[in-house]
Amino acid sequence: MKRKLNNILVTGGAGFIGSNFIHYIFGKTHFEGRIINVDKLTYAGNFENLKEINNKFVGERYFFEKADICNFEKIKNVFIKYNIDTVVNFAAESHVDRSIYGPKDFVQTNIMGTFTLLEVAREVWKKEDYSQLLFHHISTDEVYGSVEEGKYFLESTAYQPNSPYSASKASSDHMVRAYHRTYGLPVTVSNCSNNYGPYQFPEKLIPLMILNILEEKPLPVYGDGRNVRDWLYVEDHCSAIWQTLNKGMVGDTYNIGGENEWENIKLVNFLCEKIGQLQGKDKDYYKRLITFVKDRPSHDRRYAINCNKIKRDLGWRQKFGFEEGLDNTIKWYVNHQDWVDRVRSGEYKKWLEKNYGLR
Ligand code: NAD
Ligand code: DAU
Repeated sequence: MKRKLNNILVTGGAGFIGSNFIHYIFGKTHFEGRIINVDKLTYAGNFENLKEINNKFVGERYFFEKADICNFEKIKNVFIKYNIDTVVNFAAESHVDRSIYGPKDFVQTNIMGTFTLLEVAREVWKKEDYSQLLFHHISTDEVYGSVEEGKYFLESTAYQPNSPYSASKASSDHMVRAYHRTYGLPVTVSNCSNNYGPYQFPEKLIPLMILNILEEKPLPVYGDGRNVRDWLYVEDHCSAIWQTLNKGMVGDTYNIGGENEWENIKLVNFLCEKIGQLQGKDKDYYKRLITFVKDRPSHDRRYAINCNKIKRDLGWRQKFGFEEGLDNTIKWYVNHQDWVDRVRSGEYKKWLEKNYGLR
């Protein structure tokens, strides 16, 4: 059965996947309701990511509320003001390296923030008929820890998080599950593999490597470079979330993945070749920039997702091949130098205040 979605609260909608998701809803679905984007605008959140959506739909079908998901009163007001019936919780501190150097923000936003959202949903929704309500929590395959060659993460795989980031995400997933089992809150969870695509903050592997190649800077590869990640184009992640909101079974978890495993070093070499070709250089020209550096502590060796359940139960499929997704991504970064400069300069916040009056 298809769920009726009217007023969707998207948390972290100014970040990488959240903003792609909002673009996806307005551009690629028949949704006619309202999107309420709640974002604290950390270094990773960019109001500008949704400029066209804002210009076209603000005040009618798109609303932006600058707020911290840890702020119970503000979130409660948003729920009531917009009559929220669906939550998609993207908001998080998302970068593993940052969690190693400063875990506190991860505990605060990922655990306390999710807890606060759940508490608001429990309080505001308690008198409603639950059949048309849904709290969808976005999680990661990192909660499962590392998996050996030949094996894959299933929805039933035991959690074994290794970094402060994945431990905080695991904790929030458990809270979401517990609110379903204990209070009957209608929830779904999805655990996705590594995303890539437009609007990704250039601290993550693919955009960092694209920009460093273009700028002829060193390409830092951690450890021996043989760690494996399963890459998914962000729009395919968005379509999987959309299917889950519409048709997902309350209380269920769905694994989402690209079925596209790459060793980091092979991927970096591939990017060097692709960009070399684009720039009219020799195939190996950029490879001299590859620099092996000290490994990340607790660096998981391999992530690999089995996503048969979402394919079988919800009919989801990936649409983008890796070459197509990478080509789109490379072109996007080449054509959005202003965006890159702004997010890297720290000037972004000043710009935001000047242009939109947001603090
Ligand atoms: P991101 O870092 O690009 O964006 C996070 C967004 O959340 C930003 O807009 C930020 O301003 C906002 N935010 C942070 N703290 C907040 C708070 N306290 N209150 C309100 N807003 C806050 O992250 P992303 O890569 O888009 O990831 C989104 C979600 O998807 C996260 O939950 C992440 O764990 C999960 N995920 C990411 C990937 C990936 O490859 N990027 C893969 C699987 C799952
Ligand atoms: O698997 C899903 C996860 O993917 C998400 O939950 C996280 O939010 C997201 O950040 C991502 O985590 P990773 O740690 O896998 O992504 P990252 O881009 O940081 O690194 C990908 C791989 O590349 C990893 O093995 C570490 C390595 N790496 C990364 C960077 C930034 C390098 O070798 N050099 C680098 O400079």
